[in-house]
Amino acid sequence: SSVSRFLPDPKTVAAKLGVDKGPIHLVEAGLPKQLAELGWKVQFDGHHQFEEIPTEDDPPIGKLKNPRSVSRVCQAVAKVVGDHAKKGQLPLTLGGDHSLAMGTISGTLEKYPDACVIWVDAHADINTAETTDSGNIHGMPASFLLGIGPKVEEFSWVKPLLKPHRIVYIGLRDVDQGERRILREHGIKAFSMHEVDKYGIGRVVEMALDHVNPGRKLPIHLSFDVDALDPSVAPSTGTPVRGGLTFREGHYICEAVYETGCLVALDIMEVNPSLADSESAKQTVAVGCSLARSALGETLL
Ligand code: ARG
Ligand code: MN
Ligand code: MN
Ligand code: MN
Repeated sequence: SSVSRFLPDPKTVAAKLGVDKGPIHLVEAGLPKQLAELGWKVQFDGHHQFEEIPTEDDPPIGKLKNPRSVSRVCQAVAKVVGDHAKKGQLPLTLGGDHSLAMGTISGTLEKYPDACVIWVDAHADINTAETTDSGNIHGMPASFLLGIGPKVEEFSWVKPLLKPHRIVYIGLRDVDQGERRILREHGIKAFSMHEVDKYGIGRVVEMALDHVNPGRKLPIHLSFDVDALDPSVAPSTGTPVRGGLTFREGHYICEAVYETGCLVALDIMEVNPSLADSESAKQTVAVGCSLARSALGETLL
């Protein structure tokens, strides 16, 4: 299969986890075994424990909250993802805060400098240290990867290797004013829910791929924030926004990316089972697992 262009034989997937305890639920729900059943050789390297920096030792830098903790975790994740990618493995990162994408995408670009990013999200996560209102770094990873905005010394390890024409968004519907300006000024392509409604998900994914990966030859990093899905589908997440992707639309994106044969890294982010009642939590964990399976080759027939 064309997948083997980027993957060793037998297929290998390295699973890893992000900051908080939420993502371990996807593992406990049986994701490693499910991926093994799809033919992947799963190397699960456990819940990554990060030395926690107490909040009082990590005061804001400018507006940025918990900057040292976030930076340290992301840098560690960049190393692990990069190391797996260099071995020809496909790193699957289960998060956790979407700030982690700074780490995962840095790791991917280390091995595949020409990789493109498909960012599925309700949010653009492209605020800078200047434009952010919340100070939450999960709203900023794309700007660091693109090298947009003022330099923040704490994050100087993030190499601005991503080019604006190598990232495309699908699912946006909650984009801050400053972020809109950044998208416009840098010519960054985004398909909001408006375009999903207008063209249908099939055309949107095709247009997104045509933009970022015209010949379907470049490696793809898929960073999927579960809040791209409608809150009725994925309720257990930190910043839900109504009017999102249906269950099928979300899975279609994953299936279509798999079909390109170009996928080299996958993030399933912002699954947070602690935020909801246990039914909602279970539902969100199950959706996270099935998105991962779809992106890694599960088909309906
Ligand atoms: N735009 C808002 C912010 O910058 C929300 C970002 C939400 N991002 C996320 N990964 N949940 O704070
Ligand atoms: Mn978050
Ligand atoms: Mn996000
Ligand atoms: Mn989001």
